[in-house]
Amino acid sequence: MSFHLHHTLRSEFFASYLYLVEKIPLVKLFPITCEYIGGEKQFYYRAQRFYEDVPASEEGMMGDFVDISHVDLEGSRQFLSRFVGPGKAGTGCALDCGSGIGRVAKGVLLPVFEKLEMADMMEHFLLHAHEEYLGEDADRVETYYCYNLQEFTPPNNKYDVVWMQWVACHLTDKDLLDFLVRCRRSLRPNGVIIIKDNMARQGCKLDPLDSSISRHLDIMRSIVAKAGLEVLASQRQDGFPDVIMPVWMMAMK
Ligand SMILES: C[S@@+](CC[C@H](N)C(=O)[O-])C[C@H]1O[C@@H](n2cnc3c(N)ncnc32)[C@H](O)[C@@H]1O
Repeated sequence: MSFHLHHTLRSEFFASYLYLVEKIPLVKLFPITCEYIGGEKQFYYRAQRFYEDVPASEEGMMGDFVDISHVDLEGSRQFLSRFVGPGKAGTGCALDCGSGIGRVAKGVLLPVFEKLEMADMMEHFLLHAHEEYLGEDADRVETYYCYNLQEFTPPNNKYDVVWMQWVACHLTDKDLLDFLVRCRRSLRPNGVIIIKDNMARQGCKLDPLDSSISRHLDIMRSIVAKAGLEVLASQRQDGFPDVIMPVWMMAMK
């Protein structure tokens, strides 16, 4: 190849690359979610710093929207009921990922499942769940995993339902995909994974304050498919104010 052609190709390639970085939301986010400073992956470091200051309360879990917690929980209970029961997922054990203090555990999962496990990166949330928030139902929580989901491998063949609410948004695309693969292995026969999260109206949106990415439903579907999972149903949560981003529930196996 002549020097001239080589040089032209190289600058063309970088021009295209820069165009993609500018224009395509996923590509645009990639360099941001990969940034390391002082050995720390900034995307996760920022989320860690953010949640350290969040109080262990329903207000803390819901940000400025604690008033819609009951609507959210009712929507989740109805959605969950479509996948649990005879010939569907069992009611033995569920895993609540990014559980926080156990708002979903208390309002949705513990009324249905005999046993529960909870995973969250913040110790003060899990302690509050165990010592206060879940009351006597805390006895039915078998294990509290204080882990980052991107480093957590749930036990194989254990859960009827794996619930992930408002936490898929805190994982990079690759870490979410890999985590879903590990969750798939943790399901019992007929088990399902349910993701409930903010879904961007277009492309992907990064909130740099708490390091959360809202993805368009199609982008989420493509991550789910790459993890080898089949979407059983997706449904938009009703009754939330228009000012907030659409929230969707997606069940997969
Ligand atoms: C907005 S709160 C939602 C809590 C709960 N799912 C609910 O709906 O009430 C997000 C939770 O995800 C946890 N979280 C964020 N990033 C995480 C990560 N990488 N690994 C584990 N937990 C994480 C936070 O500590 C926090 O408890």
